[in-house]
Amino acid sequence: MKIAVIGGAGYIGSHTARELLDFGHQVFVYDNLSSGLRQNLFKEASFFYGDILDIPRLNDFFETVQPEGIVHLAALKAAGESMEKPEKYSVSNISGSLNILNAAVKFGTKYIVFSSSAAVYGSPKYLPMDEKHPTEPENYYGYTKLAIEQYLEWYRKLKGIKYAVLRYFNAAGYDVKGRINGLEQNPANLIPIVMEAAVGKREFVSVFGDDYDTPDGTGVRDYIHTNDLAHAHRIAFEKLQNGDSFVVNLGVNRGSSVLEVIKKTEEISGCKINYKIVGRRAGDPAIVLANPAYAKELLNWQAEHSDLESLLKTTFAAYNSSL
Ligand code: WQD
Repeated sequence: MKIAVIGGAGYIGSHTARELLDFGHQVFVYDNLSSGLRQNLFKEASFFYGDILDIPRLNDFFETVQPEGIVHLAALKAAGESMEKPEKYSVSNISGSLNILNAAVKFGTKYIVFSSSAAVYGSPKYLPMDEKHPTEPENYYGYTKLAIEQYLEWYRKLKGIKYAVLRYFNAAGYDVKGRINGLEQNPANLIPIVMEAAVGKREFVSVFGDDYDTPDGTGVRDYIHTNDLAHAHRIAFEKLQNGDSFVVNLGVNRGSSVLEVIKKTEEISGCKINYKIVGRRAGDPAIVLANPAYAKELLNWQAEHSDLESLLKTTFAAYNSSL
């Protein structure tokens, strides 16, 4: 299939592009390189430099490529920043997505696989969280993802475009074959921060609270490997070709705490990681876990690389290779 990967030079986008190429799809990457990296591009995929807010450029891209499917991963993703600068998130995430949807309609794209987030749920009301969990985002970032999910549903009803909404839990890990090594600049997420401390790019990790109701008092999250996410994007297209639109969680229902991530990274890297316990970060729940049963049932999808060891080993390999 001809697939446009919008945001394909980014962290999850590059893993997805790789997976689609590996399985014989024709891939066309559209990216403004605001956080994506040239080194994440593959020679087998055509690259179009462009912004999703630049409607003429976006339309040119669609007109040239005539994609049958799109993966849409182009978005801002810092939940904290979205609370301070909602305008920025409205424009990039919401307006940008509408531009993509309108181009998709104009140029007859059939399928769209959308990169959504567990942030649409807000604080867990029960664990593990399934797709029926109430959607009450607690940050504006999560709201933008939910709003886009709703636009997708309207465009399905009104224009017949089929969509797969993939609600990622905590994405982590790097390509298990070591083909992607572009590192995120100024990361805000735990695992890249721990890696930076391991390779000496940062002095210490601030642990946001050790008084949560969890086994060691630190926050527990459901980390999911980017190769597993990429796999899910690919099979989402297969499902859309033979079935209806759907919304699915991508996680593994396995929790790792902040201290476990730090300790395991020390073990894997052989490096000492300094950390300081500081106050809780506003809005952080104690535990977030996905119920992935529906992904298994619908897509026959199961994570293969999302154990903590593989997540951290592959990430450390990418950080180590940058030294
Ligand atoms: C993980 C754990 C922190 C940094 C965020 C977004 C969410 C989704 C994934 C995109 C928590 C703790 C972190 C640090 C720490 N994004 N932590 N020190 O907050 O679960 O989810 O990324 O869709 O929308 O909110 O991920 O990696 O920031 O935090 O102690 O320096 O690590 O408190 O317990 P989070 P995270």
